[in-house]
Amino acid sequence: MATEISQQLQVDRIIRGDSLTVLKSLPDSCINLVFTSPPYADNRKSTYEGIPIKEYVAWFLPIAWEVKRVLSDDGTFILNIKERTEGGERQTYVIELILKMRKQGWLWTEEYIWHKKNCYPGKWPNRFRDAWERCLQFNKQKRFKMYQEAVMVPIGDWSQKRLAKLSETDRTRDESRVGSGFGKNISNWLDRQFVYPTNVLHLATECANRGHSASFPLSLPTWFIKLFTQAGDIVLDPFIGSGTTAIACLAQNRRYIGIEAMESYYELAQASIEKWRAENDGNTAQMSLWP
Ligand SMILES: C[S@@+](CC[C@H](N)C(=O)[O-])C[C@H]1O[C@@H](n2cnc3c(N)ncnc32)[C@H](O)[C@@H]1O
Repeated sequence: MATEISQQLQVDRIIRGDSLTVLKSLPDSCINLVFTSPPYADNRKSTYEGIPIKEYVAWFLPIAWEVKRVLSDDGTFILNIKERTEGGERQTYVIELILKMRKQGWLWTEEYIWHKKNCYPGKWPNRFRDAWERCLQFNKQKRFKMYQEAVMVPIGDWSQKRLAKLSETDRTRDESRVGSGFGKNISNWLDRQFVYPTNVLHLATECANRGHSASFPLSLPTWFIKLFTQAGDIVLDPFIGSGTTAIACLAQNRRYIGIEAMESYYELAQASIEKWRAENDGNTAQMSLWP
C-alpha cells in the first residue's frame, strides 16, 4: 500500500512548516516508519524549541493522531523521548502520553533504551548522570513489518568458552517458544556467528558539532530503519531538525519525508543532505530505486 502511494507522493524532501499542519496534508497509510525526536518539554520556553510540561500531552496528541493516520497498517512509530526533571523529580508526561496514545488506538509494543555510552560525566546532588533515553515503539496492529536479521550482532568471544563445554542439560533443554533456534538449548548456538540484539542500544551520542543542539547520532535512526523497513520504503520524521533521519535513509536506500518548523534548521537539513549527496556520488540511492 505505502509503496503504491509513494508513486504519487513526493518523497525525498524536507517540508518547511508546522508538523501538525503538514501531516494533515499527507495521504492515509503512506508511510512505513515514523521515527522522530520531538521538541523537549521545557517550562522556560514556549517556542518551537520547547513545549511547557503541562501542555506537552495535549500538544502531542493531535500529532500522534495524524501519525497514526499516515502510517501504513503494518508500519511502526518510534518516538525518541525522555521525561525531564523539574523541581527535583522526574515529570510524568511521557507516561501520561503513552496512556493517552493507547486510548487513541495505538499499541505500545516495545520500549528500546538508547544507552548513550559516551555521555559527559557530572555530579548532581540527588541523582547520577543521565545516560539513556527511551525509544518507544507504537504500532497500529499486532502484526507489523520487522526485519530482525538486519540488526543481528556478532555472537562475541564469550561464546567460544561457553560453547566449548556443553553439559547434557545445555544440549537437551527446550528450544525457545518462537522457534528461533536459539533459546535455552545452548547447543543450538554452535556454529552461529550472529545473534539477535537486545532492546538496549549502546550507541555513542553525536560528538561532531552538526549545528543543532539536539541532533541524535546517525546510528540511532539507522538501526530502526534497518529493523522496520526495506529498501524503497518511506520513512517520515515530523521533527527532523538537522536532517539526521534523512541522511540515514539515503545511506540505507530508503525514501524520506522530513518536517521542520524553524527556517535555520530547515536550511541546515538541506545543506546536510546536499553535503551527503556530494560526498556519496550524487543520488545513487534514488536512481537505483526509481527507474
Ligand atoms: C529534538 S529536535 C530534532 C533533532 C533531530 N533529531 C536531529 O538529529 O537533528 C526537534 C526539532 O523539531 C523542530 N520543531 C519543533 N516544533 C515543531 C513543529 N511544531 N513542527 C515542526 N518542527 C518542529 C525543532 O525546530 C527541532 O529542530
